[in-house]
Amino acid sequence: RDHYAVIGNPVQHSKSPQIHAMFAAQTGQHIDYGRVLAAIDGFSSTIHSLREQGYRGANVTVPFKLEAFALSDQLSERAHDAGAVNTLIFNEHGITGDNTDGAGLVRDIQHNLQRPLQGQRILLIGAGGAAEGVLHPLLEQQPQLLVIANRTLDKALRMIRRVEERGDLRYVSVNAQAFEALAGQTFDIVINATSTGLSDSQLPLPEQLFAAGALAYDMMYGRETPFMAYARQQGAAMIADGLGMLVEQAAEAFFVWRGIRPHTAAVIAALRG
Ligand code: ATR
Repeated sequence: RDHYAVIGNPVQHSKSPQIHAMFAAQTGQHIDYGRVLAAIDGFSSTIHSLREQGYRGANVTVPFKLEAFALSDQLSERAHDAGAVNTLIFNEHGITGDNTDGAGLVRDIQHNLQRPLQGQRILLIGAGGAAEGVLHPLLEQQPQLLVIANRTLDKALRMIRRVEERGDLRYVSVNAQAFEALAGQTFDIVINATSTGLSDSQLPLPEQLFAAGALAYDMMYGRETPFMAYARQQGAAMIADGLGMLVEQAAEAFFVWRGIRPHTAAVIAALRG
């Protein structure tokens, strides 16, 4: 049996072991997938110990995605673009860092929720690690417009500058705005990538942000966030939490490790209970 684990701090609430066990059962793959708590200052020693024990890979969660990026010997293009790593592959070439978060979000929106991204007006709220991880995969789908709004405008401006420096996505209109500047604009897809879902803090969003038929998507899961409640109150046509993204990023990691793409619908349904 090949061994994998999710590494985080905290990690006890991670659903990844359950998700990968369902993928393994479904595809007939013989793997063990556990949870590993790393000390806040003990990420790299934990990784090296797992490698010595013969582990084949790991998922990385809060707060280690940047450290995993720094520790990788090789990076996939999408990990490089994201500036963070959520999936590690251990083999004779050393440690390869990948990032499946953005692919997971794109697949959840397009495949599970059946909403195209191409030609859409997207508002991405937040400019932390979660937003950075999904920006490039969203732009690759060629939306008409992508606006990043963030409390600290400078961080959003920096994200835009990095996109512009790459130069290969100039056909999409991208810009950064403060929350106050959003008044009077409407979007087809609004994605909350801030950490406000963890608390009860409300984002200072204007009225009438949602275009007819709009999707409101919170990358958090497990509870109705203040953003989801706001979207409901504002009449967004479709409201989704991040559980589908969680399962899809796991499916993408499973595919990277095992070369088999599991079916996700039944797994998402099982987790919803
Ligand atoms: P993550 O890795 O989850 O993205 P992060 O890098 O700490 O975590 O980023 C958190 C994001 O949530 C940021 O965009 C942050 O805004 P700032 O850049 O202005 O800090 C946003 N955020 C957190 N609490 C918020 C609040 N109460 N109101 C508005 N934005 C908030």
